[in-house]
Amino acid sequence: MLKPWLAPELVALQRLPMHSVPHPDRLALDGTWKFQLLPRPESEPGETWNEATVPGMWTMQSFDDAPHYTNVQMPFESRPPQLPEHNPTGVYERTFELPATWAGRRVVLHVGAAESVLIVSVNGEDVGVSKDSHLAAEFDVTPLVRRGTNTVRLKVVKWSDATFVEDQDQWWHGGISRSVFLYATGAVHLADIRAIPGLADDLTTGTLDLSIEVDFPGLAPEPGWTVEARLEGLDETLRDMVGPASKLEWLRYGPEKELMDRRTFGGPLSDEERDVTYPALYRRLVPDGDGIVRWRLEVPGVVPWSAEQPRLYDLTVVLRSPKGEAAEEVALRTGFRRVEIRGRDMLVNGARVFIRGVNRHDFDQETGRVVSVESMRADLVQMKQFGFNAVRTSHYPNDPAFLDLTDELGLYVIDEADIESHAFQSTLCDDSRYLAQWVSRVSRMAERDKNHPSIIAWSLGNESGHGANHDAAAAWLRRYDPSRPLHYEGAIRFDWGSDQGISDLTCPMYPEIASIVAHATSAGQRHPLIMCEFSHAMGNSNGTLAEYWDAIESTPGLQGGFIWEWWDHGLVQTLPDGRRRWAYGGDFGDAPNDGNFCIDGLVWPDRKPKPALWEHKQLASPVRAKVDRPNLLRGRIELENRQHFRDLGWLRARYEVSVDGEIVGGGKLPLPSIAPGGRATVELPEGAGRAPADRRDGVEAWLTISFVTANAEAWAPAGFEVGWSQFRLDDAADPVPAASAGAPVSIDADGLLVHPLLSAPPMLSLWRAPTDNDRIGLAAGLWQAVGTETLERRLTSIEPNGHATVVRSEYETKAGLRVRHEQTLRRDAGGGVTVIEVAEIPPELTDLARVGTVFETVPGLEEVEWFGLGPHESYPDRKRGARVGRWRSTVSDLYVPYVRPQENGGRAGVRWLELRGEAGGGLRVALGEPGQVSATHFRAADLAAASHDIDLAPRAATIVHVDAAHRGLGTASCGPDTLPQYLVGPGTYRWSWTLHELS
Ligand code: GAL
Ligand code: MG
Repeated sequence: MLKPWLAPELVALQRLPMHSVPHPDRLALDGTWKFQLLPRPESEPGETWNEATVPGMWTMQSFDDAPHYTNVQMPFESRPPQLPEHNPTGVYERTFELPATWAGRRVVLHVGAAESVLIVSVNGEDVGVSKDSHLAAEFDVTPLVRRGTNTVRLKVVKWSDATFVEDQDQWWHGGISRSVFLYATGAVHLADIRAIPGLADDLTTGTLDLSIEVDFPGLAPEPGWTVEARLEGLDETLRDMVGPASKLEWLRYGPEKELMDRRTFGGPLSDEERDVTYPALYRRLVPDGDGIVRWRLEVPGVVPWSAEQPRLYDLTVVLRSPKGEAAEEVALRTGFRRVEIRGRDMLVNGARVFIRGVNRHDFDQETGRVVSVESMRADLVQMKQFGFNAVRTSHYPNDPAFLDLTDELGLYVIDEADIESHAFQSTLCDDSRYLAQWVSRVSRMAERDKNHPSIIAWSLGNESGHGANHDAAAAWLRRYDPSRPLHYEGAIRFDWGSDQGISDLTCPMYPEIASIVAHATSAGQRHPLIMCEFSHAMGNSNGTLAEYWDAIESTPGLQGGFIWEWWDHGLVQTLPDGRRRWAYGGDFGDAPNDGNFCIDGLVWPDRKPKPALWEHKQLASPVRAKVDRPNLLRGRIELENRQHFRDLGWLRARYEVSVDGEIVGGGKLPLPSIAPGGRATVELPEGAGRAPADRRDGVEAWLTISFVTANAEAWAPAGFEVGWSQFRLDDAADPVPAASAGAPVSIDADGLLVHPLLSAPPMLSLWRAPTDNDRIGLAAGLWQAVGTETLERRLTSIEPNGHATVVRSEYETKAGLRVRHEQTLRRDAGGGVTVIEVAEIPPELTDLARVGTVFETVPGLEEVEWFGLGPHESYPDRKRGARVGRWRSTVSDLYVPYVRPQENGGRAGVRWLELRGEAGGGLRVALGEPGQVSATHFRAADLAAASHDIDLAPRAATIVHVDAAHRGLGTASCGPDTLPQYLVGPGTYRWSWTLHELS
C-alpha cells in the first residue's frame, strides 16, 4: 500500500491547479455524512457507520479523539516524517444525485479544507490526494460520475509528514473544516482569472492587469470562443478571441530580428521601441499559454481602495461559445490601490499608513475551527469597531469568503501561508524532501488570493527558521506577484539590519519598545518596521499598549504591528456534572500540552470584548483633540484628523461638561473639514471650556468630546462612537480636608479598626492573584520566594496623637521580610473615619504586586458607584481607554471572568467608591489621591487557587482593595514585562482614605 501520509515530497496527486474563479454552477455537499473513525490510515472501514457533520472537526463531535493543545512542541514524540502508531483517520462517505443539467459537463469536486491529508475516491475509484490543511483541493471527477446516484468518499488522515509543517500554536483537530461541493463547467471553461489591481502615480487612475485563462480539451481551442469583461468605471465591454497564443518560431532576419539584437546586446533603442514595439515582440517571443486573454485596463478618476474607504468596483467575466452563448459568467470585485516600499516606509496609495493590526486564527468555541461567513463578518466588524485596520491571517490562509469581507469592510491583510515547522524550525526549512511543500503552500495561496485588494503583503509562514525552502518559495512568489511585498519573521529574527532577501518588512515579534525605537533611530534601519506580533493578550494583559503607540507615532520608521491575538481559544466542554466551561490544554486529558497559553486573545471564546479592546479603540481614534490650558480657557481646542485618506465628513462630535461626574451641559460640536493628517482649531460652544462657577470647592469638572459616525458605515450604525477626548476644566484644587470630630475611632486590642459595616478590618496588602503575565513572567515566582501572599501582622504600638490614634505594626512575609506599617485613624466631624497609612517597603522587596489596604464588608453591599476611570477595568499601564466619570455597577459585574482566574476588575484613578445594599445604606470610601481600587467577591487567594472561572465560589462579603501603588500588567507571558515606571519597589508609601457610612 502506498502511504501518501508518509511522503514529504508528495504534496498532491491528481489535484487541479489552484485558481481564483468562483464557478457558480454548484451542488453543495455540506451536511450529514456517514462517518467512521479508524485507528490508523491502513485500517479498513468496517460495516458500521456513524454520522458526522461536514464541515466539522471530528474532535468536536464526540468521537473517540479529543482536541489536543500544544504550542511549540509536537503532540507526539517523533523525528519527521515518522508518525505515531495511533493515527486517527476519518472516513466520510455520502451519495449525491448528479443534477440532470450536468450531463456532458465537466464536474469538479471541491473540498474546502481537510486536516492533514485528504484521499478521495468516487464510486469506488481512486481520485486523488491532497495536503495543505487550510487550502482547498479540487479534483476533476468527470470520468467517474454517472447519471443518478454517486458515492463520494473522503478519507482524512490526521497525522502525516505535513503535520510537521503545520505545527502552529493552536488546538490539533482532525476533520474537514470548510465546505465541500461539486461544481460543473463546460469542457471549455474559465481556468483562472488574474485581476491584479493597481493605482497609477497620479493616485486617481485605477489600473487592472487582467488576464483570463481558458482551458479546453485537446491541443488547441476550437475557433470562435470569446471572452468578455466588464469593469465598473469603463463604458466599453472588452472582448477578445480565445485563440492559440501567437508565436514566433525563430527570428532569422528583418527589422524585428534587428530590434531584438539591439535589445539583447545593449544597442540604442528609441522610446517607442523600448516601450511599445519591443514589449509586443517579446510577447510573441515568449508567448503566453494558449487560451489566455490579457488586458491592461485604466480607469480614470477612481476612488482608491483603502481600509478607510474600501471602494470596490465590479468586474464581470463572461466566456462565450462560438454560438455566442454565455458558457460561464463570474462576478468579481476589485479595488484600486497601490502598495509600495520606499526606503523604510511602506506606502498604501502613497501614504505611510499605520498598521493597527491583530492576528486572527480560525476559531469557534463549539466547532473548533469551522467558521461561518457570519462569524467571520462578526469578527471583522468588531475589529473595525475597535479601531483595527489590519489583520494577519495567522498562520494559514483563511476561507476565501474572509478576504471578500476584508475587501468589503476595509482591513489590510497579511495573507500567510500554512507553514510552521516550529518544533523543527532549524532543519525542515533546509530539508529538500519538504521543498515542494514550502513552494506549493506559498504558490497556491497566491494563486487563490491574488485578486484581493485588501492583501497588502504575502507572508511565507511563521516560526519555521530560514532555509533554502523559504528562498525557493520567495523566489517563486516574487516572480508571480511583484505587486506585493513579502513578510517573514524568520528571515529577520537575528538581524533587523540585513538586506533580508525574503522579507521586505522588518517584522519582529514581541520586541521591547526601546529596541524598536533604537533600531529606527540607529541609521541602520533598511526596511519598514511592522511588528508581526506584539502585546500578548493572554489573560489580564496588554499593559503598555499606549506606550507602544506613542513610540510608533513619534518615531519615523515604525509603522505599527499586529496584536497577538484576537481569540481566547477556550473550547466549550461539558463536565460529567453537567457544568460547562471553556477548556484549554490538558482539559481533555491531552498530553503533552501547553495549558492555557491558547487563552491569549482580545475577545473571550464567545467573542465578548475583553477590557483591553477599549484601550486599543481609544488609541486608534480617527480624530484626536489636543488642548493646552490657555487655549481651553479661551474656548478653543485643536483637532487632529488621524486618518490617512478620509476627511472628517463621516463624523459628528458631541461634547459634555460634567461636575463631580454629573452631566451639567453639552451639545453638538460642529466639526470643521480637516484634511487627512491635518489639524484645525475649533471654537467650543459658550461655556464648554470652563468649569461652571457655581461648582462646590474641590469638585472636579470635565469636558468630554465624543466622535460618532454621522451615517451608518458597513461596520457600524449611525451615531457609533469611534473615539473621545477628555479634559479637566477645574484647576485641580486640593480637596478640603475634613475637620476632626475629636472623638476616637473604635479599634480592637490589636489596633485594628472596628466598624459595623466591615467584616474584616483594613490591613496591609502586597500581593495580587498572579495574572498570566505575572505567572509566566518572573514576578509571581519572585512574590512566592519573598512570601508576600500571606503576611503575618504584629502590633508594635497604639498611641494617641491629638484627636487621632496611631497604630504601628509590622507585617512579616513568609520569607521573614518585615514591612513597617503605620495607620493613623481619626473620626471626622461628619462621622467618617479617616485612615492615613505609611508603609516602609524594605530593599529586599524589589518588585511587588501592590502596596495598599484590603478590607472586607458585611454581606449585601452589592451596588457600586465610583468616581474615577471607567466604565471598564483599568490598570496603571492600561488606562488610556478609560475615562473619568461617575460609574455604576454591581460588585458581581465588576468581576472580569478571565478563563483562568487572576487579578481582575480593578479601576484606576478612583476618587471615591460607594457600596450600597438593597435598602440603600452602605459605605463610601474616599481616597486622598486617585488610586487603584477593586471591589470583588473573591479574595486574591481564591482567584489564584482556581484553574477555571467556573470553579470560583463568590464570597458574601465584598473585598475592597485601595492601593497606594499597583504593578502594571505588562505582557510578560510572551514579550516584555511592564515598564519600570509601572513597577512597585522598595521605599516609603503614604496614602489615605476615608470611610463614611451611608444611610
Ligand atoms: C508566537 C507565535 C504565535 C503564538 C504566540 C504566543 O511566537 O508566532 O503563534 O505562539 O507566540 O501566543
Ligand atoms: Mg509557534
